[in-house]
Amino acid sequence: MKTQVCIIGAGPAGLLLGHLLRAEGIHCVLLERRTPEYVLGRIRAGVLEQITVSLMARLGLDARLKAEGLPHDGFNLADGERLIRIDIAELTGGKHVVVYGQTELTRDLMDAREERGLEVIYEAENVALHDVEGDAPFVTFTKDGAEQRVDARFIAGCDGFHGPSRKAIPASVGMEYEREYPFGWLGILADVPPCNHELIYANHRRGFALASMRSETRSRYYIDVPLTEKLEDWPDERIWDELAIRLGPEAGSHITRGPSFEKSIAPLRSYVFAPMRHGSLLLCGDAAHIVPPTGAKGLNLAASDVHYASEALVGFFRAQDAGGIAAYSDKALARVWKSERFSWSLTKLMHRFPEDGPFERAMQVAELDYIASSRAAQTSIAENYVGLPV
Ligand code: APR
Ligand code: PHB
Repeated sequence: MKTQVCIIGAGPAGLLLGHLLRAEGIHCVLLERRTPEYVLGRIRAGVLEQITVSLMARLGLDARLKAEGLPHDGFNLADGERLIRIDIAELTGGKHVVVYGQTELTRDLMDAREERGLEVIYEAENVALHDVEGDAPFVTFTKDGAEQRVDARFIAGCDGFHGPSRKAIPASVGMEYEREYPFGWLGILADVPPCNHELIYANHRRGFALASMRSETRSRYYIDVPLTEKLEDWPDERIWDELAIRLGPEAGSHITRGPSFEKSIAPLRSYVFAPMRHGSLLLCGDAAHIVPPTGAKGLNLAASDVHYASEALVGFFRAQDAGGIAAYSDKALARVWKSERFSWSLTKLMHRFPEDGPFERAMQVAELDYIASSRAAQTSIAENYVGLPV
């Protein structure tokens, strides 16, 4: 088959890019290894920056997001004793984030594919990229045992951290930057009301905790645990006990306990691959970068990548202007690196590292104390959390 853009991966990045290109009359085909159910089963975070909300609005796919999303004007840092509120709206001239399950956003994009004429081939196996350096790349895959081929002018690698696209860029061209963290996040979902109307990121001497939510009746909580921990060592009651301590006396006293219906441990990593374009292959989202979830940047960085990629591709096909394509990697990486820095710095501030001693703990406490007393420090955090300009 022939298309203008072959998109590998139908997670949030691939689906968002596909819808944006279709809306501009650009033909694309998405190749997804898994089933729709599997893609929807991926556990994802729950905070959307303005760029993500605005792309959904531009596509007219934000009805549920507008109805169910929770605009948040602030969030809290906690040091085990008190809450330090970061007043996002006041410090950024009225901006806010929206709390909405990123899985729900993926569902909204998936549900609209037929109505929008977005062609997604699920259970596409053995996807392989060919001739990406030239201007006639192609992708091969097998579907129901039959070998298939897609000829395209461009390939968009939206296949996540473990997909084949990044690996199609020669090692001599690419550069990897990586930091793995010595802990994971144990997360639970429970149908209980949140302990606070805004998110709380806590750095207690026992460790990190995050109180988040999906709605006024569904809570999302995390604590950091050593990577050696097993889920079976963490029955619900032990998690609730730890959350009540780590979130501090005020928030801890408002926790409503209940049975978790989802429980998982996820490792944390910072990772960037450069360049994000090689010949006719553009990388978007987790295919090119990973952030620790501390800053809730994963999906939102994919959204800005997709915004830049769709603008570049529309410019190419509509005005035969290859300038956007040539500039894509530098433009996307400029925002990626700033989000990587924020996510890394908030992770360093809010977690206990095994190698840390009393001095490092004292530095964290002092930095939180400084943030509590400095409008400038809070403004810096607020403008990064709400999302830097695209
Ligand atoms: N062939 C086809 N599809 C593939 C292949 C392959 N070989 N390998 C991976 N994929 C698919 C995966 O099955 C997945 O559906 O690519 C998709 C990649 O989706 P994500 O991993 O969700 O990555 P991305 O779309 O970039 O999401 C960005 O959203 O919710 C957040 O935490 C999430 O940071 C992530 C962000
Ligand atoms: C979530 O609600 O899952 C969530 C919120 C904020 C984060 C990470 C995860 O930083």
